[in-house]
Amino acid sequence: MPHPDHDADVAFRPDGGGRPVYLDYQATTPVDPRVVDAMLPYLTTEFGNPSSGHCYGRAARAGVDRARREVAELIGADPAEIVFTASGTESNHLALTGTAQAVRAAGGGNHIVISAIEHPATQETCDRLGRDGFEITHVPVGPDGRVDPRLFAATLRPETILASIMLANNEIGTIQPLEQLSAITRDRGIVLHSDAAQGPATIDVDVDALGVDLLTVVGHKMYAPKGVAALYVRSRAPRPQPQLVGGGQERGLRASTENVPGIVALGAAAGIARQEQPADAARILDLRVRLLDGLADAMPDLTVNGSLTHRIPGNLNLTIPGVTAAELMTKAPGLAFSAGSACHTGDPAPSPVLAAIGLTGEEAAHTVRLGIGRYTTSADITAAITELSAAARR
Ligand SMILES: Cc1ncc(COP(=O)(O)O)c(C=O)c1O
Repeated sequence: MPHPDHDADVAFRPDGGGRPVYLDYQATTPVDPRVVDAMLPYLTTEFGNPSSGHCYGRAARAGVDRARREVAELIGADPAEIVFTASGTESNHLALTGTAQAVRAAGGGNHIVISAIEHPATQETCDRLGRDGFEITHVPVGPDGRVDPRLFAATLRPETILASIMLANNEIGTIQPLEQLSAITRDRGIVLHSDAAQGPATIDVDVDALGVDLLTVVGHKMYAPKGVAALYVRSRAPRPQPQLVGGGQERGLRASTENVPGIVALGAAAGIARQEQPADAARILDLRVRLLDGLADAMPDLTVNGSLTHRIPGNLNLTIPGVTAAELMTKAPGLAFSAGSACHTGDPAPSPVLAAIGLTGEEAAHTVRLGIGRYTTSADITAAITELSAAARR
C-alpha cells in the first residue's frame, strides 16, 4: 500500500542542507531522532557506571536492563540470552571464535562452514580460525545470491561444529533460507550463527522461527548509533569463550564497562523497529518498486543482481551496461550511493559477493547499490530516477 502522506510526515532529513539524497542505507542508517532522545540522558544526568551500587549506578543499570529486554523482545529471545558488544564485527567474532574455541576445548571437531557471501567480519574471522587449525568450507550461492540447502547439507561432515550464514546480504540484499538450513544443523548438533545486521529494520527476525543458536544484531543498521551491537546466545548453545576478559561484565562473556548510551539507543531502536517495521517495510518496498520501474524504463538493459523476491525491501543492486559505477557517481552528484564493485573503502578488487553470483569483473565495475530506508521520500525516488537516467544517457 502506498503511503502518499508519508513525505509530509517526515520531518527529519538525514540529507538536509542541500546535501545529496542519501541512498546508502545498507552502509549505515542515520540515528532516529527518537533514539537520540532516549540516549541523551545517559550521556548527561544518568552517567553512572552500571556496576556501581549507588543510585547513579542503579539508574544506568536500569537503562541497560531495559534495553536488553527490548532487544530480546525484538528477536523473540530471553533477555539473559543477549550480550551487548561494540560492533557487528565484534559480535561475529565472539560468536565464531568464541564458539570454535569453546567446542575445541571440549574435545569437539574442527570444521566450520560459512557462505561465500559473508561480510568480511565473518570471512576474515574464519580465515584466522583457518590459520589456527580449523578447517573452513565456503558454501557457494546460486546466481540468485542464495545458499541451496542441499549444497549446504553436502558440505557438512561428522566433525562440523559450526556454521555461519548471514540473514540478509549487505550488498545484494538477498535473504537466506535459514529456516531450512537450521533444520539441517539442528539434526546434526551443529551450532548455527547468523549475521542479521541487515535484518531487523525491515524484516522479521525471530530466533526460534529461524532456528539459530547465535545471532548478530547491529545498531547502526537499524537507526541506532555506530559502535553498539548485540549477540544473541541461545541458552542451550555452547557458551562462547570470551574474547575480552577483565571486569566480568555481560555475565563474563564480554568484559568492559558497558556503553550505556549506546546500549540504551539500541534498545530504543529495537522498540521502534518492533512497532514500525511492518509499515516501514511496506513503504520502503513501494519506493523500491517505483525506483526499479523508473530506472528500467529509462535503461531497459539493466539487470538486478540477486533474487528480487527473497530480498530486504530497501536494497537494489543493479548492473547498468554502458556506464561504470564510478562514472555514474560522478555524473549524479545529487545522489549518495555505493559502487557495487568495491564496497569497502579503498578496496579496488571486485566484490567477492558479485563474483560469487557469477558477475565478471567488467560487470561488477558497472554495478551500483542503491539503499532505501526510513527517511527516503517519494521525492527522493523521483530525483534518483531522473538523475541516474540522465547520467546513464550522457
Ligand atoms: C552484514 C554485516 N555484518 C557485519 C557488519 C559489521 O558491523 P560493524 O560495522 O558494526 O562492525 C556489517 C556492516 O558493515 C554488515 O553489513
